[in-house]
Amino acid sequence: MPEAVRRTLAPALVVSALLLATPALAGNGGFAPVEGVSPNADRINDAYNWVAIFTGAVFLLVQISLIWFIIRYRRRRRARTVEGAQIHGNTKLELAWTLAPVLILVAIGSYVFYKLPGIENVPSANAAGGRLDVQVDGYRYYWNYEYPNGVIAVDTLRAPLDQNVRLQIAAPDFEVIHSWWIPALGGKRDAIPGITNELWFRARLPGTYRGQCAEFCGIQHARMEAAVEVLPREEFDTWLEDEDRAQRNGTSDLGEQTYAGACAKCHGLEGEGDIGPTLRGNGLLGDPEAVEEVVRNGLGKMPPVGKDWGDRQMDALTEYLEEEVQGGS
Ligand code: CUA
Repeated sequence: MPEAVRRTLAPALVVSALLLATPALAGNGGFAPVEGVSPNADRINDAYNWVAIFTGAVFLLVQISLIWFIIRYRRRRRARTVEGAQIHGNTKLELAWTLAPVLILVAIGSYVFYKLPGIENVPSANAAGGRLDVQVDGYRYYWNYEYPNGVIAVDTLRAPLDQNVRLQIAAPDFEVIHSWWIPALGGKRDAIPGITNELWFRARLPGTYRGQCAEFCGIQHARMEAAVEVLPREEFDTWLEDEDRAQRNGTSDLGEQTYAGACAKCHGLEGEGDIGPTLRGNGLLGDPEAVEEVVRNGLGKMPPVGKDWGDRQMDALTEYLEEEVQGGS
């Protein structure tokens, strides 16, 4: 390929890749945010649309004037040496281009500040319908959730329909920073070791809402996905009770969830291009104590993914590895 062609082609490819990557998770071909299903997400989108009106208008104004000036004031047949008209000052125009941006900033600022409390402020626990509090912890490369009754879930959070949910987002002190973000359910919050950040949502439609860790946290950052599955209130309550019982007597799928979230993203059984050694045929799997040792302390490049897990989660994982992963391989 000739050098000149290569020089033009490479940036063009990069730019189109970036342009195509954006719409992948957004609405309207990349121009609009994901449609919200929670009041705070709606307010974020309102603010986005309000800002887009002004930026869109300024963009059109600038581009149209640019094209108009290029055509209207082109050189034509004038000699290169001919000087243009000498213009000094235009008070009305200068006032207009000073005042208009000030007014635009005031309009954007006041609207955003008007919307902000409804985005930021977590509804009180006494608000109608009550509130569910969930602890959300970011780990390399999975999300660990803990419900008030002690139920633990990995990556997929179940939540009740039409109820305020408060997320207390953090990371253990041996972790790096992650960021929780489910676009349809509102804002984004960093999970920072030692600091608890809050976020909330109240989903008005049942369904599964997906998101992705939004802070580059390491080699498997891209696989650190999260989902919130919104269930009708009664169904959720029943699930939470049943799940608690199942986790207590070791019959839940917590082991499988933990394996999928904390192990399988790096250790594929098929050696499918993953970053850690395959677990297929690994004798360690049948030895709960050895598994616990590695999981709590890490090994080589492997972080201590389960350093602070409770027995419930550790036992669930070791049992799952012993019975399902080793047995099935
Ligand atoms: Cu966790 Cu990126």
